[in-house]
Amino acid sequence: MANSNQAPLRVYAPASMGNVGVGFDLLGAALAPVDGSLLGDIVTISQITSGVEFEQVGPWAHKLPDDLQQNIVYQCAVFFLDKLKRQDGVKLTLQKNLPVGSGLGSSASSVVAALYALNEHFGLPYDQQALLLLMGEFEGQISGSVHYDNVAPCYLGGMQLMLNTTKQACAAIPSFKNWYWVVAYPGISLSTAKMRALLPQQYDKAVAIDFGRYLSAFVHASYQQDEKLAIEVLKDVLAEPYRAVAIPGYLAAREALAEQGMLTTGISGSGPTLFSVTDSLTKAEQAKLWLEQHYVTEQGGFVHVCKLDEQGTRRV
Ligand code: HSE
Repeated sequence: MANSNQAPLRVYAPASMGNVGVGFDLLGAALAPVDGSLLGDIVTISQITSGVEFEQVGPWAHKLPDDLQQNIVYQCAVFFLDKLKRQDGVKLTLQKNLPVGSGLGSSASSVVAALYALNEHFGLPYDQQALLLLMGEFEGQISGSVHYDNVAPCYLGGMQLMLNTTKQACAAIPSFKNWYWVVAYPGISLSTAKMRALLPQQYDKAVAIDFGRYLSAFVHASYQQDEKLAIEVLKDVLAEPYRAVAIPGYLAAREALAEQGMLTTGISGSGPTLFSVTDSLTKAEQAKLWLEQHYVTEQGGFVHVCKLDEQGTRRV
């Protein structure tokens, strides 16, 4: 059954941090600004007689391709109609609130909002796991490779660990509810594919062991709710050493934030957004001010003090 003769369905999909520093391609978290604002794309869907009508609006719509048929949201709709052999159609509006190439899971947010909205509209033909796999495949078409560390937290909320097993794509792990995640987007755009190309094809054995140790220790600390241990091991040995220099101002910001008493700082996804962690709202607000003055360099850049978004994608 399609969602006919009803008010258009409106779906919000939150911004997310891939990797969360310590879990390259394997860990991700959804973000919720503490001021209550929405930081993520919104897709609205309604029924039409046939085909796909699509429009893109919002603050970052001008950065998307002009050819609407190239938009991933349009392609998600075509895929759904074809797969379900529908004779009727859908109209979708993408409100593009996240900057492209920001490291905040912008493409994931569009894909997840679109597929969630389509699935709801058509009466839930896909279950949660199947829909998540589909989200990963579509997002991979934009970012250049299939990784779930943005789509999984964006869809399901909280902190998600990728399992990539046949039965289960990911699992939620406990987070530290008293932590604030200050996220700063400087205003420039970096392509995930290019930032992935900076990484080596192979790593030393010692680095591989450190990666496994830090990630497993972080997961252990999360279950134990051992903040000190979690911060001590929240280290990125796979990506940050190669990406840091490609992000203007990142290393200086990381140093300044440490001096201000922030607990740790890392790259959100493939950058240029950085995240910085504290358990003090006062320190978070101070870091926000500093980042606004020193890290945000272009128009459109922003800083948000966030908690994790535990709800994930939802109707709004
Ligand atoms: N894990 C991916 C990367 C995600 O770092 O390349 C980017 O959001």
